[in-house]
Amino acid sequence: MKTITINTPSCNSVIYCGNGAFVERTALLKDKKLFIITDSNVYKLYKSHIESAFGDSPAYVLPAGERSKNYHQLLKILSAMLKAGVTRSSTVVAFGGGVVGDIAGLAASLYMRGVNLIQIPTTLLSQVDSSVGGKTAVDFEGVKNIIGAFYQPYEVIVDPLFLRTLPRRELRCGLGEIIKYGALDSGIYRKLIENKNTIFSEQFMEGITYDCIAHKAEVVTADERDTGGKRKTLNLGHTTGHAFELYYKRKSHGEFVLIGMYYEIYIAKRLGMCDAAYADTLIDLIKRVIKNVPAYEDASKAAQFAKFDKKNTQVSRISLIAPKCEGESVEITLPAEQYCKLIEDCSAYLQENKA
Ligand code: GLY
Repeated sequence: MKTITINTPSCNSVIYCGNGAFVERTALLKDKKLFIITDSNVYKLYKSHIESAFGDSPAYVLPAGERSKNYHQLLKILSAMLKAGVTRSSTVVAFGGGVVGDIAGLAASLYMRGVNLIQIPTTLLSQVDSSVGGKTAVDFEGVKNIIGAFYQPYEVIVDPLFLRTLPRRELRCGLGEIIKYGALDSGIYRKLIENKNTIFSEQFMEGITYDCIAHKAEVVTADERDTGGKRKTLNLGHTTGHAFELYYKRKSHGEFVLIGMYYEIYIAKRLGMCDAAYADTLIDLIKRVIKNVPAYEDASKAAQFAKFDKKNTQVSRISLIAPKCEGESVEITLPAEQYCKLIEDCSAYLQENKA
């Protein structure tokens, strides 16, 4: 088991990574007062793990899926915490994927102005990205992650055990974030290129998970509150990904990150802001994970949603983070009309080049 530490003014967060981390770390929680938050899928799959690790600790089980990431569910969780007698000395355990981690983290930050939080991510996406770094949120009035808080878990337990039951689609979602890290970090990029034929293998995922977390830990340590410009880079592909996610809804977050990256790489290449040969290697990686990147006819809707992105500082201008060259990214800010036109062009290109 390896550890990674995030030290910021607000916390010391330790991430325990590797086989056996779940059993080893949860054994130390036996005497603690816990409140477990999970979802219906994870509960079904890991009921025996939950029982053996957390005994009869009270639990709240969310309906599985992105739609649960709303304030109605948040209020239900807070009410269950109150009924269960959660106090300041209790620990909230977020046991599940990105939705569970985000909403449980927000509940932990609000209840009694903050109770202890442990994240135990069970999907590849939440292991490589969302469980680490303390961003918590729910969606509101059609805007992604608009009500939230920075609230660091004091511990994150990342065990590859949970990846074994994941459907391929979930692995695809996690690989979306992993390719994002590849576009930001040349060490991760090299590993992706060298292992491009085996990126779905368990062995590859285990190793690269640690590398992605280490990259994120460095970024969060330098810019915990996303104000210094560094953390913003972790949003590569997300402006367009989120915009499509809100409008089209059919896929899940990681798939939209892959799609968003495809479109934003196209934009960066068209504007001459990304080295073309390098861009093509990233596109090749994306296409290995998601065969058909969809063309979207209603680009104006995507542009409307992109206007809500938290990176934007001016009305009617859309900001996105795109790859520039190996290990470097660039922020591109465009008038909404130009963004919309580029999304239309990319969609037309995808239509023309349909396999
Ligand atoms: N997932 C982006 C961040 O944590 O900042």
